[in-house]
Amino acid sequence: MNVSDHLRATLADEYGQSLADAVTEHHRAWLARHGDWSTWQQARAQLPRLDTAWRLQDGRLVAGAESASPGDLAELLRAFIPWRKGPLRLGSVDIDTEWRSDLKWQRLVSQVDLAGERVLDVGAGNAYFGWCMLAAGARCVIGCDPTQLFVAQHEVIRHFTGPAPNHLIAARLEDLPPALDGFDRVFSMGVLYHRRDHLDHLVDLKNRLRPGGGLVLETLIIDGPGDRVLVPDDRYANMRNVHALPTLTCLERWLAQAGWTSIQCIDCTPTTEVEQRRTEWMPFHSLAEALDPDQPGRTREGHPAPLRAIMLAQKPV
Ligand SMILES: C[S@@+](CC[C@H](N)C(=O)[O-])C[C@H]1O[C@@H](n2cnc3c(N)ncnc32)[C@H](O)[C@@H]1O
Repeated sequence: MNVSDHLRATLADEYGQSLADAVTEHHRAWLARHGDWSTWQQARAQLPRLDTAWRLQDGRLVAGAESASPGDLAELLRAFIPWRKGPLRLGSVDIDTEWRSDLKWQRLVSQVDLAGERVLDVGAGNAYFGWCMLAAGARCVIGCDPTQLFVAQHEVIRHFTGPAPNHLIAARLEDLPPALDGFDRVFSMGVLYHRRDHLDHLVDLKNRLRPGGGLVLETLIIDGPGDRVLVPDDRYANMRNVHALPTLTCLERWLAQAGWTSIQCIDCTPTTEVEQRRTEWMPFHSLAEALDPDQPGRTREGHPAPLRAIMLAQKPV
């Protein structure tokens, strides 16, 4: 069964055939909009047949047999650059991704019990965290992300892992049918600051949960007291689409306004070049190019350097 058919079958089991058909149709149409989609499909079709299996080893997703010739395989995998989220070992090839996403996972995994849960991961990227969630006991993970390259990478990864209940829908959260709900847990990591309508996003996340379900929200904040928000007038850390960075107090207020309860911050960590950096597999600008070389703690635009908070909250019962 191919990756889209597996997604459709999983959705049909949980939500019925018509929702499954509608979501899968949106997924396929969204992917087909990207000019490189057929090139990526051709590259994926050339991947060697091998024994599939997966495990997490020291935070690295290790998938597929090691027998495939590393040189040829690496060449095929380069068609999917930039690889941002990992680290990954696919067959015999180590992919040193831009992000050591395992470090983010370490900061939260002991605070969240995913055993037996159905999880929605919003802005899942290539769904690296879905493997961490399954390894932590989640029953099923459904991710969504509108970036077609990351969905192509997910399909490549699934070529090596074999079928697993870690799915990725090519869609923005707001494009998913409201009936795709009832999750035990929703993750939104690295998405809120990309949204102009932060309150809508926080309410939509809540609507996807069963009563009493839990939120894991990770987002950029600014340090300091009070209820304040930084609205960059142009770029933030080289990114064009960063709309608002709240203080912790302000973020807590936003969550309460959106109807969340039991709000707590479990981590605040500055992003460093240990966690985010240019590599052979992501050879473009990264954190180093986003910071002011003359002013430690400042971005090139003069804003405070990236600081990320991880929040937990609950949907009222
Ligand atoms: C900074 S990345 C974070 C990826 C991953 N969650 C992490 O924490 O490393 C943000 C991701 O959100 C996705 N995204 C942006 N807008 C979105 C939306 N409206 N709904 C769902 N995903 C979105 C982007 O395509 C991108 O992959």
